Amino acid sequence: MFRIYKYSFTEMLLFPPVGVNELRLKARLEGKTVLITGASFGIGESLAYQLAATGVHLILVARTQDKLEEVKARIEALGGKATVFTADMSRSDDVLRLTEFLSRLQGGVDIVVNNAGKSIRRPVMESLDRLHDFGRTMAINYSGPVQLILALIPGLLKNKGQIINVSSVSVLLAPAPKWAAYQASKSAFDQWFRCVSPELNAGGVATTTVYLPLVRTRMIAPTEAYNKMPAMNPGHVAAIIGRAMINRKRRHAPWWLFFGQLGSLLFRGVLESMNIWFLNRKQTL
Ligand SMILES: NC(=O)c1ccc[n+]([C@@H]2O[C@H](COP(=O)([O-])OP(=O)(O)OC[C@H]3O[C@@H](n4cnc5c(N)ncnc54)[C@H](OP(=O)(O)O)[C@@H]3O)[C@@H](O)[C@H]2O)c1
Repeated sequence: MFRIYKYSFTEMLLFPPVGVNELRLKARLEGKTVLITGASFGIGESLAYQLAATGVHLILVARTQDKLEEVKARIEALGGKATVFTADMSRSDDVLRLTEFLSRLQGGVDIVVNNAGKSIRRPVMESLDRLHDFGRTMAINYSGPVQLILALIPGLLKNKGQIINVSSVSVLLAPAPKWAAYQASKSAFDQWFRCVSPELNAGGVATTTVYLPLVRTRMIAPTEAYNKMPAMNPGHVAAIIGRAMINRKRRHAPWWLFFGQLGSLLFRGVLESMNIWFLNRKQTL
């Protein structure tokens, strides 16, 4: 089914609609268990609603318990089943608590959606005494998910399950100034996931990376410049992830990403010089 979001003309061109066959999604998911990290807001929350009526058992993970309970209540009102697990995915003791809980679930986990994430945009000159920014983003965007997935691999192999990683187009494009903490941590996980994927695929576990452009969630709200930039609707992303659960493809990316990657490769020097020129100009204004 196609849903048309309130998009500008440019957004419609950049983010063409994606159809999800709800019957096939239900057939694929009925009776299964899907874990969504970062299910309290944004993309994770929208995905939880997208899957609510499929007969799946959703495990909703995030830090904000009240909000998770609200999401669970809405899922139940839609006829679904959900369990809330509050955890800070950047803390290894919390991830351990979560994996112990999951190991007691009958049948284990069938699909993991690694979605919880944190972004920081800060100039390096404002980061000199903020090593913790880099530690925190690495913990939530890299080491927490690695710890979670390592613990779930035996069960996923048994269930011939799937891991879906919610990533960013930025990890495949020329690096952007001020985004060092976020882009390094998302790139680290992307690289780790691409390394382990063939081993998992050989064992029957599907691995999918969804490379996203800007998405209109609270994550981008603090960056004023993004208010007027084209951005996807989180419901649209939920449809993309739902579709990935049906077709189990390795990767979803916007159609234009290839041209961005080509430009990043061919014009690396030009882009780096443009960044310096732009930063100098801003300083003199
Ligand atoms: N928005 C974009 O433009 C964009 C673009 C590309 C990729 N992405 C990726 O999309 C994913 C979802 O982001 P979003 O845009 O939906 O942002 P969001 O609305 O801020 O949601 C982030 C989710 O992650 C959870 N979370 C954050 N820190 C956590 C922690 N330490 N432990 C457990 N849960 C944590 C949050 O819940 P609590 O605060 O309740 O813990 C929330 O549910 C992220 O991985 C992000 O990198 C986003």
